[in-house]
Amino acid sequence: MTLIDHLHLREPYDAILAKVVPRHRSSIWYYMGGLALFLFCLQIVTGVLLLFYYQPTPEAAHQSVEMLIAKAPFGGVIRSLHSWSANALIAVVFLHMFSTFFMKSYRSPRQIVWLTGIVLLLLMLGFCFTGYLLPWDSTAYFATRIGTEIPKAIPFFGDAISGLLRGSKNVTGATLTRLFGLHVAVLPLIAVLVVAAHVTMTALLGSAMPPGTVAKGKTRFIPQYVLGESIVWLIGFALLLIVAVLHPWELGPAYDLTKPTEPPAGVHPEWYFMFLYQSLKYIPEWAAVVFYTLVFIFWTLVPWLDRRAGTNRKSPLFTWCGIAAILGMIALTTLAYISVADEQAKAEKTVESP
Ligand code: HEM
Repeated sequence: MTLIDHLHLREPYDAILAKVVPRHRSSIWYYMGGLALFLFCLQIVTGVLLLFYYQPTPEAAHQSVEMLIAKAPFGGVIRSLHSWSANALIAVVFLHMFSTFFMKSYRSPRQIVWLTGIVLLLLMLGFCFTGYLLPWDSTAYFATRIGTEIPKAIPFFGDAISGLLRGSKNVTGATLTRLFGLHVAVLPLIAVLVVAAHVTMTALLGSAMPPGTVAKGKTRFIPQYVLGESIVWLIGFALLLIVAVLHPWELGPAYDLTKPTEPPAGVHPEWYFMFLYQSLKYIPEWAAVVFYTLVFIFWTLVPWLDRRAGTNRKSPLFTWCGIAAILGMIALTTLAYISVADEQAKAEKTVESP
């Protein structure tokens, strides 16, 4: 009796060996889920390494990051990898989400895969939001101040949510303690469990075929597909390493809580929150909260709202909704960067001509 039989793993073991992945004109998009998984693991490894040096207090945080960059072996590269890879992860998760949306992979029996995916999207954005303040530089400080102000627009619970995140009236050491706890303990614990559920379900259910697509054949999961996936991971890692070495992630000046200053001109959230930030310039905060809550509910319930989900027919209305969402996000993000550049240019002119 082999160890596999002994542990009663014969059935899943044989199923994985027999697994095949369909080949068709869109099958390249299947690699996005695996790439997200790789980047998620890279975040955990680099994050744990950073933890060996990082100190989560307003007095020591910035200095500990400076020390890590200057003194720890490969400290600067590991920090840069962690930050660049976090951004790559968000981009890949968006690509993965929209590709599974357009391929209609959310349809039965994969509704729960889609649902766990939505939870993962929120968790990944949560990681970025909570990690942003940790280096305690001025940009991070002011961006977190804006970010923790926005929930106040939520009716009834807004102030409580903002207070829960900040731990005090303003962004202080209490906020740093809370965001640090969420970033290194709460979110990783939940994320590891949800990633495991998401990936296990896709392994058991196999890859979905987009409706109306003709299969060009099948690829064996082991070894061909896994080898292809490994090449994608290696290329991704090599590119990240090159970027991390050539463009170290910036660390702005430390923020001093005892000498409060005004936010610098053009301070703004990270690129993936820019479309939300820009929306707030056109509509009142409460309207934005209502609008995005409805969009989010619609997006979460897509597997149940798509009335053609039980058939092998396309659903162009849903495809157009996806295209409209992407175009809207790109347009708002572009407008947001244009207005940030304008604000910065105005501020520079004011400094030049006192
Ligand atoms: C950290 C985030 C995520 C990781 C690590 C991850 C990982 C994976 C992996 C490894 C697969 C199997 C390979 C593939 O088909 O691409 C997969 C499939 C899938 N994922 Fe994700 N995913 C994440 C986020 C999301 C999000 C945000 C959504 C959508 C809301 C989503 C929806 C799906 C669906 C519907 C499938 C089934 C695809 C099929 O069977 O053809 N995932 N995911």
